[in-house]
Amino acid sequence: SRTLSLAVIPGDGIGQEVVAEGLKVLAAALPSDVKLETKSFDFGAKRYHATGETLTEDDLTQLKEHDAILLGAIGDPSVPSGVLERGFLLKLRFAFDHHVNLRPSRLFPGVATPLAGSPDIDFVVVREGTEGPYTGNGGSIRTGTPHEVATEVSLNTAFGIERVVRDAYARAQARPRKKLTLVHKNNVLVHAGHLWTNIFNKVGEEFPDVTTDYLHVDAATIFLVTDPARFDVIVTDNLFGDIITDLAAAVSGGIGIAASGNINPSGDFPSMFEPVHGSAPDIAGQSKADPTATILSVALLLQHLGYADEAARVEKAVHADLAERTAPRSTVEVGDALAARVAG
Ligand code: IPM
Ligand code: MN
Repeated sequence: SRTLSLAVIPGDGIGQEVVAEGLKVLAAALPSDVKLETKSFDFGAKRYHATGETLTEDDLTQLKEHDAILLGAIGDPSVPSGVLERGFLLKLRFAFDHHVNLRPSRLFPGVATPLAGSPDIDFVVVREGTEGPYTGNGGSIRTGTPHEVATEVSLNTAFGIERVVRDAYARAQARPRKKLTLVHKNNVLVHAGHLWTNIFNKVGEEFPDVTTDYLHVDAATIFLVTDPARFDVIVTDNLFGDIITDLAAAVSGGIGIAASGNINPSGDFPSMFEPVHGSAPDIAGQSKADPTATILSVALLLQHLGYADEAARVEKAVHADLAERTAPRSTVEVGDALAARVAG
């Protein structure tokens, strides 16, 4: 029999609640000859307050032994903004070289959207996950004075861009519409923008059957609202990807159902799957959080590990459940309903 060894990081706030439901559905979806082994890691505000520590080398060594990681959410108002996010979440993405941050958006039938009509939304954003303005490059001088100067340098390497762009082309090629849009801001961020554009065009020569276009990020936000059906696969840098995927979630059913995968395609390190939403401390502990984003992230996890049929079953269950949702249900009720559908 086979084993799936999963590292589980519930994290802060609603992370605990949604991950419990994700695990329920994962257990229901896995083939019966696959043994699910989970190990839980106590990352987040609690550990930070108790030890003053964020992610350690020992944590990384232990995590590395697993096939994949399921994460709830990291971030808590009791800790200054950025400490936990940088110290746990971004450190994990960087240490495990999660350069493909995969964020699909689909408007399932029956799901409310703030957009007019019911547009045909089915696209995926491939967000670069290890570079851009996220690396912590920069600093401040004359700190705390009226003359303070702060820089936040966006780091872009040809290597880093090329690998994520090639991954995005391959994903576009595997989809029926075979269309890839580069989103950047090369009219202003000319250095990084031209590097992205040049590599995008060059790599495109390897994928002659993929249709391409380019949008400045500001224009992309307009089209995400006025004509989201135009998008198939989008590739973009870390920060633009962060911003447009929140918008993408908002137009396709909300942050409660937006899933993501932090992928290391080489398999050198475990990939990590997490809902796009945060720890939502305002509703934590009340069983109000929608676990669907985590459950759809479990589908991405299954897909990534080669369980394509099982992934499809989870997606189908979510699809059917969303179409029938009426009264609000608790976190556990949604998890139970989805696990039952997947098992049945
Ligand atoms: C996300 C989050 C993170 C990000 C934060 C919490 C560091 O917003 O996963 O989108 O900016 O990547
Ligand atoms: Mn974000």
